[in-house]
Amino acid sequence: MERPAWAPQGIDLNVPSVSRMYDYYLGGSHNFEVDREAGRQAVAAQPALPKIMQANRAFMRRAIGFALSEGVTQFLDIGSGIPSFGNVHEVAQRLEPTARVVYVDHDPVAVAHSRAVLEGNERAGIVSADFRSPQDILHSPETRQLLDFDKPVALMLLALLHFVEDKDGPEKSVADLGSALAPGSLLAITHATEGEGYGTAGVRDVYRRASAPLTIRRRKEIAGFFGEFEPVAPGLVPLPHWRPDGPPGQEEPALLSGLAGVGRKPAEGGEADGPEGPDTAKTTVKVGSTG
Ligand SMILES: C[S@@+](CC[C@H](N)C(=O)[O-])C[C@H]1O[C@@H](n2cnc3c(N)ncnc32)[C@H](O)[C@@H]1O
Repeated sequence: MERPAWAPQGIDLNVPSVSRMYDYYLGGSHNFEVDREAGRQAVAAQPALPKIMQANRAFMRRAIGFALSEGVTQFLDIGSGIPSFGNVHEVAQRLEPTARVVYVDHDPVAVAHSRAVLEGNERAGIVSADFRSPQDILHSPETRQLLDFDKPVALMLLALLHFVEDKDGPEKSVADLGSALAPGSLLAITHATEGEGYGTAGVRDVYRRASAPLTIRRRKEIAGFFGEFEPVAPGLVPLPHWRPDGPPGQEEPALLSGLAGVGRKPAEGGEADGPEGPDTAKTTVKVGSTG
């Protein structure tokens, strides 16, 4: 079995990794034949998969721009993946050089490659930890050193929660993370939902044999992850519909199977205000009201 020099020791090269499969869809080079083969099978079942992943990354960029426009310059990106084009720290620090980013992943390749990419960047770091143990993330030296929890943080859970099974209590982990954040913090989520896209039977079959199965959830369940975070307009909507940069183009129906939303943590006993105080131009809508 091939083992390139960059591959960390101790990883199982016989099981496709969801992290490396994602890298394959995005055209990256940190994947093995076992990942490419699984990726090819998934794409054979749903040819729009790479476009869904690109729409997910495009949402990520827009959500970062939104956070910065709200004055939120700290990012905690969990399930951050193998660095590819346009990573959170690149997008954020290009727009706001003082932006700080903590990446978290439990995949050894994602962690090793992130560490290499971030070398010399004093405002970004990577934590090797599991989303299902939020205290490990919150108390890790890198997190404590880079993020100021007295100020708002943008918590990014992008294409992560559908790899966490209900039995592992993802709602509790999100709530624990959220409760550590200051009012005005943001929570960005993308998640696979029902429909012909991620939800295609052949795609789910492939992931059943990978490092984590896909848990497709209904929009109501996904909306529930926001908990106390109040939805930011336009609510929880298909990936391309969240504050698009331009007029809608011709859209693949499969893209509607990925939902995206951002929530804002309210001030204790009141509505969430931006750092500049109440903003009447900000509209909040009920998650689940659109899309
Ligand atoms: C599909 S990738 C998403 C990457 C990036 N967030 C994005 O949206 O472009 C999902 C990532 O979540 C990571 N992941 C899955 N379950 C995890 C867990 N329990 N704890 C930490 N990371 C996890 C995987 O290793 C993978 O790198």
